[in-house]
Amino acid sequence: MASVSVDEAMRRAIELAARGLGTTSPNPVVGCVLLDADGEVVGEGFHAYAGGPHAEIVALAQAGRRAKGGTAVVTLEPCDHTGRTGPCSSALVQAGVARVVIAVPDPNPVASGGAATLRSAGVRVDLGVRGDEAEAGNVAWLTSMRRGWPYVIWKYAATVDGRSAAADGTSMWITSEAARMDVHALRGTVDAVVAGVGTVLADDPRLTARNLRDGSLAIRQPLRVVVDSSGRTPSDAQVRDGAARTWIATAAEVGTGPDGRVDLPALLAELHQRGVRAVLLEGGPRLAGAFLAAGLVDKIVGYVAPRLLGAGPTALVDAGVTTIAEAIDLEFVDVTQIGPDLRITALPRKREG
Ligand SMILES: NC(=O)c1ccc[n+]([C@@H]2O[C@H](COP(=O)([O-])OP(=O)(O)OC[C@H]3O[C@@H](n4cnc5c(N)ncnc54)[C@H](OP(=O)(O)O)[C@@H]3O)[C@@H](O)[C@H]2O)c1
Repeated sequence: MASVSVDEAMRRAIELAARGLGTTSPNPVVGCVLLDADGEVVGEGFHAYAGGPHAEIVALAQAGRRAKGGTAVVTLEPCDHTGRTGPCSSALVQAGVARVVIAVPDPNPVASGGAATLRSAGVRVDLGVRGDEAEAGNVAWLTSMRRGWPYVIWKYAATVDGRSAAADGTSMWITSEAARMDVHALRGTVDAVVAGVGTVLADDPRLTARNLRDGSLAIRQPLRVVVDSSGRTPSDAQVRDGAARTWIATAAEVGTGPDGRVDLPALLAELHQRGVRAVLLEGGPRLAGAFLAAGLVDKIVGYVAPRLLGAGPTALVDAGVTTIAEAIDLEFVDVTQIGPDLRITALPRKREG
């Protein structure tokens, strides 16, 4: 087999890492490619689920004795601690790997230090190869570990004129089945789906990740969270069915914010404590407005249907904007047509000061 460059190996390791998206939480996604001393690929691995073997261990097992004198190319700094599995830094040293190439350092204080351990054992360590790409593939986990609360994606569906329901309140379904299937796939990549009690009272959603064609549930279900200051969620609400775990987050349990409702930063801190790294905020407009006003949204995914309503509730209410200078500016990062609808992905621009 022909030898490959470290750069090519990292591109492959990033592809491998992506296979773990949605199943590794609260752990990161990680990919690893092992090259022997001649630069031939002798092992590949990715971290598939929390508690399962780390990417480096899978690749080392494949490589066997051919790892000696070789190079491990890995998307995240190898861990240096014993958790559910042993430290990858020691496993690499024991296998006789001569060089480790890392895309992104590990921000997790519990697991970091792998690079230093490797260097002190005489292994050459290079950091930063395809760092931006690997960072993008692990953005939710890295962001949540660095700041201590989850990465928040606000998802909404609206007409071209920004309406989320008709004037009489009817809203099912604004977007196509194809767009709704895409939402279910998105739910499968996060650890928690969050909705306000207003949405539960109006629509009685299930908030599970499902196959819309046959109704079957995805194997891994995100935690369902209803933000409900005074516990108004009905006892027979569908979010309380047994299909997935549910947390009715009340102000009494989480804490009260300045407006007397559930304290949103405290809610996110509690979710982080529970191992949630990525959150899909599914609305509705009031809760989304409160998250945006507090600067707690990291990414926006909007499904825009080719329809006009001209009246009816809007997709967003009270986001803390009273004049144009206060508008929440966005950067569009992707626009994809899904069936007849558009899926618009945008990032809020960081505000000055
Ligand atoms: N188009 C879409 O994408 C979409 C998505 C979801 C919903 N919807 C529509 O939205 C409508 C419901 O709108 P909504 O605005 O009432 O629903 P909502 O945003 O889901 O719920 C709002 C409620 O959340 C509770 N809440 C708790 N803590 C809060 C906080 N810190 N900040 C703000 N709210 C907090 C408040 O009730 P308490 O004070 O009692 O806690 C508040 O009234 C429905 O008609 C539904 O169909 C549309």
